[in-house]
Amino acid sequence: MSANEKLLDVDHVTVSFHIGSFLAGGQLVAVNDVTFALYADKPEIYSIAGESGSGKTTLANVLLHDLEPTEGKVTFEGRDLSTLKSRRDSMQFMAKVQPVFQNPFETFSPLRRVEEYLVETAMQFGRAKNRRDAAKVADEALHQVGLSLAEVSRRYPHELSGGQIQRVSVARALIPNPRLILADEPVSMVDASLRMAIVNLFKKLRDEQKVSVIYITHDLATAYYISDRIAIMLRGVVVESGPVENVLGNPLHPYTQLLQESVPKPAATEREQWAQHIELGSTEVREYGRLGCKYAGRCPHVMDVCKTKVPPEQEVEGRTIRCFLYNDGAMPETASPVQTGNLETA
Ligand SMILES: Nc1ncnc2c1ncn2[C@@H]1O[C@H](COP(=O)(O)OP(=O)(O)OP(=O)(O)O)[C@@H](O)[C@H]1O
Ligand SMILES: [Mg+2]
Repeated sequence: MSANEKLLDVDHVTVSFHIGSFLAGGQLVAVNDVTFALYADKPEIYSIAGESGSGKTTLANVLLHDLEPTEGKVTFEGRDLSTLKSRRDSMQFMAKVQPVFQNPFETFSPLRRVEEYLVETAMQFGRAKNRRDAAKVADEALHQVGLSLAEVSRRYPHELSGGQIQRVSVARALIPNPRLILADEPVSMVDASLRMAIVNLFKKLRDEQKVSVIYITHDLATAYYISDRIAIMLRGVVVESGPVENVLGNPLHPYTQLLQESVPKPAATEREQWAQHIELGSTEVREYGRLGCKYAGRCPHVMDVCKTKVPPEQEVEGRTIRCFLYNDGAMPETASPVQTGNLETA
């Protein structure tokens, strides 16, 4: 393995959906020219954060090869995902890139014991030839998440707590020995008190198993805590990305500044804090349809150019940013932290 070899290469990926009626509809660009890479010799936790309806799950579906991008391409271990056609190729890819979903109760059938599910996964991905070996593989995976087969084997999903079942779903994802775990809102249905335990698992997997994790979340508090790098997504566009200590420690994009100010302290008020953004859903399609910066309608620093031109990606102070305030990499004199509660939705 050579240095800087890419594990995952996301190259100018765009996904457009046709929305509205057949005749009166338009295009919604749910993922808009997204580029980033993860490196084979440097496992890391890469977070994708942003409010509801920003294209995070759509991007995740492209990375899992469940959805073909409209433009651009995704390469995993040097192979363009659009060339994965046979079942064998798909299985090999799926073994290496495993999802963890928001609702573990949807991942597991309520009618089957947890053990059967794990054993079957081990057999399906060729980790074991018989049930006995598969049970061993399942037990090892469960130990990675602080459980054991003895604890969960006879149980049905509803007989486990939310925190336990989500740990089982991480264990299930580990069974094929993946290089990348793609976790879409894995803790949003777990009590705040248990979230840290789950996200700490990702850290442990990165450090001990050298597994990379793409962590998709609304929850900037946990993202700040576990990420190496973070991308802030708004209406399909990555507006700011880079090392988490730069992007969240010293946000430059007015949208990141707004999000960062609403990071809950204490954590209990998190939902309410986020609700103010989520309620902006009515503006969602309108923001997607904006010509220039998707944040122009809410940004306290908006300038004329923001309404008509797409801000290009630029490197500023150790991160990549799309914002005209930092045009040509120059720091603006007017950039002051965004005041929250000033959400203009024009
Ligand atoms: N199949 C589809 N057809 C049309 N529009 C879609 C489709 N899938 C997603 N969208 C739209 O694309 C946008 C992005 O949706 P997506 O689910 O990717 O957002 P998200 O960031 O994951 O949101 P959340 O945080 O609520 O999970 C939304 O406006 C959504 O309505
Ligand atoms: Mg989503």
